[in-house]
Amino acid sequence: MNFILTDSYEQMSETAAEFLTEELNRKPSAVFALPTGSTPIGTYRALARLNKEGKVDFSQGNFFNVDEYVGLSRESEQGYYHFLYENLYRHVNVDLEKTHAPDGTAENPEQAAEQYEQMIDGLGGLDAAFLGIGRNGHIGFNEPADSLHYATYCVTLTQSTIEANARFFRNEGEVPKQALTIGMGTILKAKKIILVADGDDKEEAIHRLWEDTSLRTDFPVSFLRLHPDVTIITTIK
Ligand code: GLP
Repeated sequence: MNFILTDSYEQMSETAAEFLTEELNRKPSAVFALPTGSTPIGTYRALARLNKEGKVDFSQGNFFNVDEYVGLSRESEQGYYHFLYENLYRHVNVDLEKTHAPDGTAENPEQAAEQYEQMIDGLGGLDAAFLGIGRNGHIGFNEPADSLHYATYCVTLTQSTIEANARFFRNEGEVPKQALTIGMGTILKAKKIILVADGDDKEEAIHRLWEDTSLRTDFPVSFLRLHPDVTIITTIK
């Protein structure tokens, strides 16, 4: 696991954007998983600038949301597809036909999860998984649990995650209790993994990741240790 320590949020974001740009320039039709949250917003802003400057072309790339809330549609303002549309897609020359999120409104979420996994597999799997991290060590919505899931699945969110994400809703009660997330296997099969972490509430998780080499299902991010090409870009010392 390669750690890159940056001095500021801006520097972290620029560094992550460079990694993603390099990947897209190397393989214009690359398949990406993209996260939501406050942390990657700066990276998306940097990517939009690089796209306007003609330094990166999104038109052939394939982009998959890492996760989506159950019950929220593509148009829903708190939904994760909408987040990526607002923060990235509408600012770059992406082909919207090649942007995907799990179907949060599907009657059968398990089936929607399976279809999503098949769609990623059909394109040859992820070339790069771009990730944030939850304060409890979750990646995507792979929450701490007795066991982890291999493929995309429907997860019941932990109270810690509901509280952390309540800021995007009018109140905690409005946060969906379930989500669809790409699984740990989907992530670990990606050729490259890039994770960004910033802020006091992530300090404990990043320190733990740094110091503790055990693989623990109650700390899902620890499984990234199994992957040969992981870069953690962080402002956390
Ligand atoms: C949510 C998302 C994760 C994201 C995490 C951290 O739980 N499902 O993919 O990494 O939030 O978000 P933030 O960057 O806002 O702390």
